[in-house]
Amino acid sequence: MPPIGANDLRSGSFYLSESLRAQQADSLQHPAGLSVDRGAVRWKNGCAQCHGEAPGNLRGALARLPRVDKRGAVINLEAQVNQCVTQRLSQSPWGYESAEMLEITSLLVTYLAGLRREIALDEPTRGALVNGESLYRRRIGQLNLSCSDCHDRLYGRTLLNEVISQGHSHAYPVYRLEWQSMGSLHRRFRSCLSGIRAQLQPQGSADFLALELYLAWRGQDLSLEIPGLRR
Ligand code: HEC
Ligand code: HEC
Repeated sequence: MPPIGANDLRSGSFYLSESLRAQQADSLQHPAGLSVDRGAVRWKNGCAQCHGEAPGNLRGALARLPRVDKRGAVINLEAQVNQCVTQRLSQSPWGYESAEMLEITSLLVTYLAGLRREIALDEPTRGALVNGESLYRRRIGQLNLSCSDCHDRLYGRTLLNEVISQGHSHAYPVYRLEWQSMGSLHRRFRSCLSGIRAQLQPQGSADFLALELYLAWRGQDLSLEIPGLRR
């Protein structure tokens, strides 16, 4: 059972100011718009030859991410994109925060807005979820806090001028005002780790992937609201 019941799940945007919430909902005012538009150009030039003019028909496959492959590895959106970047386009993998990656992921997720994730509960996925949950509950850093301490127990409280949300992943990638740019979910994880003065991990680390899978499962009853806008 997820720690927060389906009826009590709240999107991160619930904790935003009214004006930011309105800006997120208005595609003309949303600062992610530029990234989405650039993603559409990249799609035309690199991906459309195999996948068609618009990524709409990938929607079903995208909603099933993150998924766990037969060997137990978590495949998230960035990894799935990089499979095509390396194997079909013969390029080196795109970094999580590269313009290429953020523009393509911003574009792809717009096709998911309003849908829910479908996390398959097969054996390899269950195993990876157990791992993700234990990382989520492990106390770390100089402040000795776990993800769960803040996002399952303290949500709604204010910490250093920020209201703590339930820590859902369903709005990522987001445009974050503090970053003045789009950023990945794993970049957000790094912000949380530095907040509690824990050792940082690189984007795409095995631990971050396991956490991403766990968060997707924990919040799967929320409809996706992407790309998000955050403070
Ligand atoms: C040369 C053809 C080719 C190109 C170019 C290509 N892909 Fe793919 N892509 C495929 C094939 C074939 C699959 C399904 C098999 C697989 O998983 O490798 C796939 C699968 C995918 C999937 C997973 C969807 C599914 O049905 O499993 C995504 C997402 C994706 N591609 C995104 C992209 C993006 C983004 C680009 C451009 C940066 C791109 N692809 C470029 C051939 C291509
Ligand atoms: C000291 C409390 C604290 C801890 C511990 C913490 N976070 Fe956060 N987290 C925050 C704050 C504050 C924010 C920014 C406001 C918000 O959206 O909750 C945030 C944001 C997030 C978000 C973005 C939510 C959204 O809607 O944009 C995610 C996802 C997240 N945290 C995951 C994690 C994970 C995974 C861990 C454990 C590795 C973790 N957090 C540990 C305080 C914490």
